[in-house]
Amino acid sequence: MHLPVPAVCGVKVTVFRDALRRLLGRSNRGTVILVLGHHQLVVPDPEHPAYTPTVSPEYAEQIRRWHERACAEGIATSLSDQVFDYLGASIVVPPQVMPITPMSHLLSEAVLAEVRAGERVLDMGTGNGVNATLAASKGADVVAVDINQRALEAGQANVDLNGVATRVEVRASDVFSAVSETFDLIVFDPPFRWFRPRDLLEAAMTDEGYQAMTRFFRQARQHLRGQARMLIFFGTSADLGYLQRLMAEERFTVKVVAHDDLVRVGWRVEYFTFRLT
Ligand SMILES: C[S@@+](CC[C@H](N)C(=O)[O-])C[C@H]1O[C@@H](n2cnc3c(N)ncnc32)[C@H](O)[C@@H]1O
Repeated sequence: MHLPVPAVCGVKVTVFRDALRRLLGRSNRGTVILVLGHHQLVVPDPEHPAYTPTVSPEYAEQIRRWHERACAEGIATSLSDQVFDYLGASIVVPPQVMPITPMSHLLSEAVLAEVRAGERVLDMGTGNGVNATLAASKGADVVAVDINQRALEAGQANVDLNGVATRVEVRASDVFSAVSETFDLIVFDPPFRWFRPRDLLEAAMTDEGYQAMTRFFRQARQHLRGQARMLIFFGTSADLGYLQRLMAEERFTVKVVAHDDLVRVGWRVEYFTFRLT
C-alpha cells in the first residue's frame, strides 16, 4: 500500500528525503521508500523525475498495438493450464500467470550457464517459477518473489513438481518490500510495457510508468554481495532506452549474453539478456 506523500516538490521534499535516508542508513538514489510494517511511504525524488517515454509517440503507439495483440493471444491461451517440457523441467502454467514464450529460453539458458552450486539467487517476478526451478536444479538456494498470488501458487507447485522445493523459498513481495537478504545473482524478466494493467495476467506484461522496474534498479545494489551479478531480460517492444538509462544511472557494467529477434505483424522485435555487474 502506498500512503499519500506529504509534499512532492522543493526544499521540503529534499529535507524529508534526506531525513528518510538517514533513518534508513543508506543513500539509494531515486524514489525513497520507507517501510512501516506492511505499509510503504514512497517519496518521488526530484533529481530523478517520474517516467517519461524515451521512444517517439509513433514508436510508443506501435508498442501499444503489439501489446494489445500479445494480450489478446495471452487471454486466448490462458483459460486452462498449459504444460511445458522445458530445458529439463516440467512447468505447469495456470491462467493469469505468464506462460513460457518463444523467447523465454534467452533468459533461462543464461540462468543455467550462470548459476553455481551453493550460490544464493533471487528470482524477481518469478511468475510460473521456471527460472527459480532451473537455478535450484543447478544447486543454488533460491528466493522466488512475485506480487501475483496465482504466480506464487504456480511457482510453489512447479518447484514441488520438479523436486527442488527444499532449495526454493517462494515469497510474496512487491519488488524488494519483503526481501532483506543479499544474493550472488538476481534474475529479473520485468514487465516490458509501461501502461496501466487491466488484470493480473496483463500485470505480468505491463508496469505502469515502470514504477516497479525503477524501484528494482534503485534498490538492487543493496541486495548484491561480493562478485554478484544480475541477469535482466528486455526487448525492443519495451522502452529499452529507459532500461539503459536506469542501468547507467545505477552504474552497472552491462554485457549482452543472449540476443534474438521475432518478426510479427511486419515488425521485427529484438530481445536481449543483459548481464550486469
Ligand atoms: C514478464 S513476467 C516474468 C515471469 C517469469 N520470471 C518468466 O521469466 O517467465 C514478470 C513477472 O513479474 C511480476 N511482477 C510484476 N510486478 C512486480 C512487482 N512489483 N514485484 C514483484 N513481481 C512483480 C509479474 O507478476 C510477473 O510474474
